[in-house]
Amino acid sequence: MAFVDWTEYYSVRNNLLDNQHQQLFDIINDLHQAIRTKQGEDRLAEVVRSLIDYTRSHFADEEKMMEEKGFPDYSQHKSAHQRLLQQVTDIEHKLHDGSESMAPDVLCFLLSEWLVKHIIDLDKQYTSYINEAQRA
Ligand SMILES: [Fe+2]
Repeated sequence: MAFVDWTEYYSVRNNLLDNQHQQLFDIINDLHQAIRTKQGEDRLAEVVRSLIDYTRSHFADEEKMMEEKGFPDYSQHKSAHQRLLQQVTDIEHKLHDGSESMAPDVLCFLLSEWLVKHIIDLDKQYTSYINEAQRA
């Protein structure tokens, strides 16, 4: 059973972005699996890195779409993306430097919260605007 499941509730009514969000859920599930089956620190680091890389390209696509559609809160949303990327990069640093040990299940919980909040609190803000722009 998956640790986090993408459902229609998370839909931003854009196929490309929904698919990318599903991919992010898959990465969090990979992380959970790596922890559950004790695949080791290198594997954890690899999955966290892939989360960061994928998030970076996902945010770039979202920003491009918002800019093209003239979304009024574009720059605010872009700053929020930068903060979200910083949060996950901070988590990665903590994982690497070992000065502050982070229990793997806490890591998994933090990142799943981070992902869900990004979609619900942030991305849902552009959903209605973009869909109205598409209908017009
Ligand atoms: Fe997103």
